[in-house]
Amino acid sequence: MLMLIFLLVVVIVLVVRKFYLKKLKSGRNVCVLVLGDIGRSPRMQYHAISLAREGFIVDLIGYPGSPPMKEILENMHVQIHYLRPPPELQNKLPRLLCYIVKVIWQTADLLWSLFNKHISDSLIMQNPPAIPTIPVCWFYCILIEARFIIDWHNYAHSLMALSLGKNHFLVRLAKSIETTFGYRANNNLCVTQAMKEDLEKKWFIQAKVLYDRPIDNFHPLTLVEKNEFLCKLAEKYDIKISCSPRTSGFIVSSTSWTEDEDFSILLNALQEYEDTCESNESNLPDLICVITGKGPLKDFYMAIINLKKWKHVEIKMPWLENEDYQKILATADLGICLHTSSSGLDLPMKIVDMFGCCLPVCAFNFNCLSELVRHNENSLVFADEKELAEQLKMWFQDFPDNKTQQQLREKFQGNMFTSQQNHNDWHSNWTFNVLPCL
Ligand SMILES: *[C@@H]1O[C@H](CO)[C@@H](O)[C@H](O)[C@H]1NC(C)=O
Ligand SMILES: *[C@@H]1O[C@H](CO)[C@@H](O)[C@H](O)[C@H]1NC(C)=O
Ligand SMILES: *[C@@H]1O[C@H](CO)[C@@H](O)[C@H](O)[C@H]1NC(C)=O
Repeated sequence: MLMLIFLLVVVIVLVVRKFYLKKLKSGRNVCVLVLGDIGRSPRMQYHAISLAREGFIVDLIGYPGSPPMKEILENMHVQIHYLRPPPELQNKLPRLLCYIVKVIWQTADLLWSLFNKHISDSLIMQNPPAIPTIPVCWFYCILIEARFIIDWHNYAHSLMALSLGKNHFLVRLAKSIETTFGYRANNNLCVTQAMKEDLEKKWFIQAKVLYDRPIDNFHPLTLVEKNEFLCKLAEKYDIKISCSPRTSGFIVSSTSWTEDEDFSILLNALQEYEDTCESNESNLPDLICVITGKGPLKDFYMAIINLKKWKHVEIKMPWLENEDYQKILATADLGICLHTSSSGLDLPMKIVDMFGCCLPVCAFNFNCLSELVRHNENSLVFADEKELAEQLKMWFQDFPDNKTQQQLREKFQGNMFTSQQNHNDWHSNWTFNVLPCL
């Protein structure tokens, strides 16, 4: 008898749920979710913008921090739901306990946010982080019968392995979460062809490649705009670069100062550049190197840099406003990228942005870099500090009036996006790859 009542209740709940979902679902609600600073997750913001452009109502869930793009803030169809950052317990509790508290907090907070918005028809989440995002989102999607879509920017387990080591049980947990739930997602997106092949080969996950693109804000500047910006750099950030005539070279790099970028490579290359200038054996300009970004290893490198008493090379580390970051890329003579992917399968967003500004780069080589950067075709690729130093000297030889160098620069600029997407912009590739999933 009890059993019968129980079964009856279950059936009623299921029927009511079905009815309730049918009534409340509009077919046009999509949730875009990232367990990170929304303002610093350009790709998830592009998803939101593209969705809104195609007439969907978008709930964007993530952490506060940097301001999101204007197109998001001004868009009536995109509603932002901020998560509450977990409490800072770092020095009060043992590390593992801290982590457990954080995960419980995030799980509760995520569930609260997910159930306090429109009922979604589809959910697109960014991985990493995988814990607790993937299981929580999967659970939500099962419960309300939504499409579950994972956008793989990288692997959570390979990122965690950087600091914890490959065999840590949390790394293994992240890996098993990624495999079990990745397989259960309705659709998967990823950032490179190499990642697509890896997902398929290792875990039988079928994904579609959607390359990152720079936003429209990342575009080249005219000479007048560049000079204006150089004045602003001098006034606002105390970075003095003579504008007419230009007498010093200007290189730029950005970083979040984490273990996967070894800045000693750049510092050693600059040391060699300095030595060459000192010895006066080639005609090289003084160099100003701007490194932007915040992060855990910044103080460490700052201390090393402060010990260098260079005469020809100067390193500046300002924190730039968003708008100024785009302009500095468009104004510099060369970009530097030291990114090495933890999985070897994702591409550095900063190069995409630099290319958007038509800025050639020297990029540190790794597994799938060639999907974006091809040596001597659209930029330069180096394997160690020696090569980087050679490339810097080559690029700035007889600066600023070197015809050979200018021709090389123009060739690079012409080839920047040809290997990818046949000149398509983000939205048309998005329409081609993502829209059919919804
Ligand atoms: C250094 O180079 C400049 C021109 O590049 C030259 O005029 C000068 O004589 C050189 N000085 C030494 C010490 O070689
Ligand atoms: C110009 O730059 C190239 C390398 O880009 C270098 O080989 C050459 O010596 C430089 N000077 C002139 C005058 O071409
Ligand atoms: C980008 O979109 C075009 C069609 O719009 C398609 O042919 C191409 O394969 C897409 N590229 C990627 C990498 O998805």
